[in-house]
Amino acid sequence: MASPRGEFSSRFGFVMAAAGSAVGLGNIWGFPTQAASNGGAAFLLVYLVLAFTLAYPALMAELIIGRHAHANAVNALRLISPNTALRNLGAATGIAGFIVASLILSFYAIVAGWMLAFCLSSLASLLDMAVLVSWLTSFGIGRNVLFMLIFMAFTIGIISAGVRDGIERWSARLMPALLLTLFLLVVYVLTLDGAMDGLRVYLLPDFERALSPKLIIAALGAAFFSLSLGVGTMLIYGSYINDDENLPVVGGLVTLVDILIAVLAGFLVLPAMYVALHNGVEIFSATGELISEDTLIFTVLPELFATMGFTGIVVSFTFFFLMSTAALTSSISMLEVPVAYVIEEHGLKRKTAVFTIGGIIAIASIVILLNFEALFGLVIAFTTRYSQPLLGFMFCLYAGWVWHRDALLQELRKGNPGVEHSLFWKIWPWYVKLVCPVIIVGIFVQSLWG
Ligand code: PHE
Repeated sequence: MASPRGEFSSRFGFVMAAAGSAVGLGNIWGFPTQAASNGGAAFLLVYLVLAFTLAYPALMAELIIGRHAHANAVNALRLISPNTALRNLGAATGIAGFIVASLILSFYAIVAGWMLAFCLSSLASLLDMAVLVSWLTSFGIGRNVLFMLIFMAFTIGIISAGVRDGIERWSARLMPALLLTLFLLVVYVLTLDGAMDGLRVYLLPDFERALSPKLIIAALGAAFFSLSLGVGTMLIYGSYINDDENLPVVGGLVTLVDILIAVLAGFLVLPAMYVALHNGVEIFSATGELISEDTLIFTVLPELFATMGFTGIVVSFTFFFLMSTAALTSSISMLEVPVAYVIEEHGLKRKTAVFTIGGIIAIASIVILLNFEALFGLVIAFTTRYSQPLLGFMFCLYAGWVWHRDALLQELRKGNPGVEHSLFWKIWPWYVKLVCPVIIVGIFVQSLWG
């Protein structure tokens, strides 16, 4: 039975939605290139360890609090607090989370708009429309604003349809499509000349690099960003899970899908770069580092596709379609955070809330675009490098210290009556209480010094 505030209809629906949120540009774009420039398989190893030991417990903290409260982060953290001071701090954390989620969406929509533009440019080049292709693939304010708005319109459209008819329906459609596309691209790219060199770079570990403090901070930030932690996204998705669901299991599934797709994307992006090298495209920067980030996606890969003739057009379309899909299932989860809050807290209708907040975020994106040099990198660093780990830390404190242990156990028992005897219950409470906060703070402090 659907509750009035919306609920996922099945385990599959939830896992697709939460994995859809987790799997995004962070996985397909961020992870492979970071791995490439930071010690290959050694980075992969550090990432895997951090994902399971830090990100998974932090994810569980959000899911459990969310499901318990069946409410947005502000109300949920208030609900589990025993006194006024903690209630206020909890509410402040929730509010900070929804502001950060909105800010993430404001830069994410810009990047996702570029993906859409490049996707369309493949179609345009099929029709030999050179002028259009060049407009779509050049950095210009007109293109940037237009495609950001188109992407926001998709996001707003899905979120205004609600939890089941919007988030769940579209995630369940897009996620399998994404997996299939990614898989086909990997298989195809691996057959091309040069691919094996890329595979070697990806899979040969260089431990000296992977164990440097700077890198561990990068991997932690990547893991938090990748699992959509710290901004209340997973908390709000958790609040839409029904009470019979076994949370440690579904949280584990989401983590696994997220990691799997990041790792799989590595099998696509790195071999593709070396195929590009083989075809005469420059893949190293002036300082000898592997080109990464936006130059990789919007210069190196398109140059590679251009060397591949007609097949290149098809591959290019498929690749940017994959990126756009991954971005969309994530952006809807960002928008849901502030939307859920204003619906529950201020009694707005869903449509009104979605259009108002979506509109404000689109304006924020335009402001960023108009001051691109000054703001774009700043907003990314502020939200992903600092805010997400710090807010994740707060969620761990609330799950580990503020919330009464018996109440927490009772919540977990709902979907798993024998949970007290499980490995999860033996380890996880200590993790959120001590290990996660200490490590997050440790890494954070080091990053401020470094
Ligand atoms: N996890 C998403 C990605 O990897 C980004 C995201 C961050 C989504 C925060 C929601 C909230 O791209």
